[in-house]
Amino acid sequence: MTKSIRAKITALGTYVPPRVLTNADLEKMVDTTNEWIMERVGIRERHLVDKGVAASDLAVEAVKNLLASHPFDLQQVDLIVVGTVTPDMMYPSTACLVQHKLGIVNTWGFDVSAGCSGFLFALNTGVKFVESGQYKKVLVIGSDVNSSMTDFTDRAVCIIFGDGAGAVLLEPAEDGEDGVIDHVAQIEGMGGQYLYMPGGGSLNPASHETVEQKMHYIHQDGRNVFKYAVKKMAEMTERILEKNKLTGKDVDCFIAHQANLRIITATADRLGMPMEKVIINIDRYGNTTAGTIPIAMRTAIEEGKLKKGDLVLLAAVGAGFTSGATLLRWAL
Ligand code: COA
Repeated sequence: MTKSIRAKITALGTYVPPRVLTNADLEKMVDTTNEWIMERVGIRERHLVDKGVAASDLAVEAVKNLLASHPFDLQQVDLIVVGTVTPDMMYPSTACLVQHKLGIVNTWGFDVSAGCSGFLFALNTGVKFVESGQYKKVLVIGSDVNSSMTDFTDRAVCIIFGDGAGAVLLEPAEDGEDGVIDHVAQIEGMGGQYLYMPGGGSLNPASHETVEQKMHYIHQDGRNVFKYAVKKMAEMTERILEKNKLTGKDVDCFIAHQANLRIITATADRLGMPMEKVIINIDRYGNTTAGTIPIAMRTAIEEGKLKKGDLVLLAAVGAGFTSGATLLRWAL
């Protein structure tokens, strides 16, 4: 009988650009208030790139920070999977750009497009390559420059998003180590109508007309996205816990996608999870899409809420619709 291989996260690096946009700044740009944003969404400030900084740049900085805490020879990387919906350009893929900027010579890689579930989908993909025995070092990156597609005159959208990236290294777990235990994931394409960017693709190639009609910006029906996210986040987390004969009480650390504080607290309530086990950093970063979950892992470590051996539940819902949950034993 062949022995099954498990994957574990052996290093983490994150990066957010230094420029901060506060609610006070937004009050000067659109008809909104700090109170409304804090109460309805839970964001106080978000980080935004300067002109000329792209998703691959944030990804590279995240990998450099990973290397600073866990030095190893990048030439050993077998595979780079990048979750992003704000690639530097339609092609080449962000993975190719990241590989080139990091000077990794002999590797494979590709992008995964799954909106706010981008990091989870990329992680699950990387895990399968380690579990198959084919690869021993996989870089999984989530990176998004949401400000590149945000209409800063649309008050229901511009308050939500921030820019940021995170990277983890996946390697085979030791015998008897749990590592990444399980995942569930789903797509429901009917949700495409509620959160999308219509311009610049093959349906609506960029033109004066697409720009005039603001088709290069995020189009969001916030209320429908919110309703779906609350329902689906609960469904996916319950599904993975039941599948593994666990309950919310068994989880040491819950890291949910940070899109709206009310979505996270509703899910935690449903799982009967006390808030001290729930990671919240939306107030500082907003929704950084594929960057969110690794950045929240960093917050969890900094706040002493994530330690070696902890059972961690990750969950996300995003544009598509996409959704997923992953269960893992923290190994750092
Ligand atoms: N400041 C003040 N008022 C605002 C506002 C802002 N920034 N944004 C919207 N409003 C107003 C609306 O115009 C509306 O006014 P009206 O009743 O006069 O028409 C009112 O607030 C309520 O709008 P609604 O869309 O129902 O608000 P909401 O409570 O649902 O909050 C979101 C809006 C976008 C914050 C919320 O729907 C949300 O978080 N949705 C999920 C978005 C998400 O997660 N996206 C990422 C994908 S994972």
